[in-house]
Amino acid sequence: MPASEQSVWFVTAASRGIGFALVKHLSASSSNVVIAACRNPEGSPKLQQVEKSAKAELLIVTLDTSDEEAIKAVPETIKNFLKDRPIDYLVNMAAITEGDDKAFSFSPSGFMQSMQVNVLGPALLAQALLPYLEKSKKRVIVNVTSGLASIGLNFGDKNATYSISKTALNMLTYKQATQRPDLIAFVVDPGWVKTDMGGPGAHIDATECINNLLSWIPDAGPERSGKFFNNQGEAIPW
Ligand SMILES: NC(=O)c1ccc[n+]([C@@H]2O[C@H](COP(=O)([O-])OP(=O)(O)OC[C@H]3O[C@@H](n4cnc5c(N)ncnc54)[C@H](OP(=O)(O)O)[C@@H]3O)[C@@H](O)[C@H]2O)c1
Repeated sequence: MPASEQSVWFVTAASRGIGFALVKHLSASSSNVVIAACRNPEGSPKLQQVEKSAKAELLIVTLDTSDEEAIKAVPETIKNFLKDRPIDYLVNMAAITEGDDKAFSFSPSGFMQSMQVNVLGPALLAQALLPYLEKSKKRVIVNVTSGLASIGLNFGDKNATYSISKTALNMLTYKQATQRPDLIAFVVDPGWVKTDMGGPGAHIDATECINNLLSWIPDAGPERSGKFFNNQGEAIPW
């Protein structure tokens, strides 16, 4: 397939959960070029299995998104693989949670680590990959947030650290979108998904989540930028 007809995706958290499901799905088509980032590729045999069967061109890169120097090194790491190709879609999937902590009793170190992984990592990765996004006709940044980030949805006092960090990610995305109207940057709540984070009692599995996301994200235009969506692409309140 001519390079101009391929879509180039950069996805973090490819080791497991929703990030793995996205990489698996994208890698099944030769119309995609996929850079799958995770902090320990050797620790994810299923990702290595996807690498063996991929129809897409697939590069697995080691990236701990809490490591600022590692993020700065990413453009050099992917240079030879991409050559003169752009990145069309950056999907910031990696995140951690402190679970159901509270505003008056959270762990300061857990709070700082959550801000590092859930906010600063996505921000710095977008900065590092901006030259590749600028080469794209699509220029999409998908920051994966949570419904818990919404004040309007009124989830009460639960999961304080995680919710605060994802609300900060939402504001980061709004700032990205408003500073750079030539980019399409938005936040997506993937729904309550059966992963290690979502637990077995969640509403949907990761495959259904990805099918929903991929029913609209590839066609996302400027009207999406700076907004907050559920996994079906419907706007949800800040
Ligand atoms: N599942 C849900 O119900 C749900 C609901 C709302 C939002 N979300 C959001 O959806 C996204 C994916 O969640 P999930 O359910 O797939 O989570 P998960 O099953 O807990 O997986 C978390 C992923 O993030 C990666 N990660 C964590 N810290 C990292 C770091 N410092 N550097 C690089 N990768 C790191 C993990 O890598 P390792 O394997 O190396 O640990 C793993 O791949 C997250 O942004 C989450 O907040 C999930």
